[in-house]
Amino acid sequence: MISPVIRPRRMRSTPALRRLASETRLHPAELVLPMFVREGRESVKITSMPGVVQHSIDSARRAAAEAAAAGVGGVMLFGVPDVRDAIGSGATDPMGILNLATRAIADEVGDALVVQTDLCLDEFTDHGHCGVLALDGSVDNDATLERYNEMALIQAASGSRLLGLSGMMDGQVASVRAALDGSGFQDTAVLAYSAKYASAFYGPFREAVQSTLTGDRRSYQLDPANRREGVREALLDIEQGADVVMVKPAGSYLDVLADVAAVSAVPVWAYQVSGEYAMIEAAAAQGWIDRRRSIEESVLSIRRAGADAVLTYWAVELAAWLTEGNHK
Ligand code: PBG
Repeated sequence: MISPVIRPRRMRSTPALRRLASETRLHPAELVLPMFVREGRESVKITSMPGVVQHSIDSARRAAAEAAAAGVGGVMLFGVPDVRDAIGSGATDPMGILNLATRAIADEVGDALVVQTDLCLDEFTDHGHCGVLALDGSVDNDATLERYNEMALIQAASGSRLLGLSGMMDGQVASVRAALDGSGFQDTAVLAYSAKYASAFYGPFREAVQSTLTGDRRSYQLDPANRREGVREALLDIEQGADVVMVKPAGSYLDVLADVAAVSAVPVWAYQVSGEYAMIEAAAAQGWIDRRRSIEESVLSIRRAGADAVLTYWAVELAAWLTEGNHK
């Protein structure tokens, strides 16, 4: 019989040893809750994301306060406007839903967590693209930057502390940074969705923001085949002054996340997107996987791959589990 000298199982043999040997730990403060806010007084359920709703401004205030009480690090706000047009006018209307919700939530939670906003036009355009269109129907990069700059100033003035640039336009970080600095918003931070892939996993998000897309986003979001390109985008955004860079989606892009984390001098976050949420909820509802363990493992894996913080629709529930499990 062979008797191994090296026995890695030794360190796994008791719960206390396993706890001490654990390389990665989750904490509520590094979780960010994405939230959808619609117009009108009622909140509305999102069928493809069981447990997630489009909030009214009032219910969003309450949910943000709950998130703060749970110790969650921040909220990321998305607006669901009633009316859309070609240039996404609602995005730059101070009375537009996203800007109103930002003000209301910032007033409610103060500094208890970081209020962040999605800076992108797709929720506000009738064609569903992340920018304005040129005459030939393509997304006009530089004309879109002008719109992003206007959005940035209004979001900052509405109380957003961290602007989530998710549109994947070239030069968007430098452009928005200069606009903010030129208007006295030097302290408003920029989160660059640097490596944002053209992913099928955003499917349920379309229902969440009730937007329909003409065509696809492949001329601006990254090709899922490309790993190097994700790193290049992150490095460019850091050069342009990004305060945080992000990889999105998370679970299917852990290699990109690890690569970016290895070279980034700024925090690296990851977005566990709507489809990742929906898949686990659907399988768990069938009884095919253990819901809580799957959620914990999925977020832990994103942290292990190199994310400093994770945007996840489970932020509040997970924070509660982590707090109750503190002495386990
Ligand atoms: C763009 C944006 C999207 C998501 C976040 N910001 C959609 C897209 O680019 O198609 C998706 C988030 C999710 O699926 O949870 N404003």
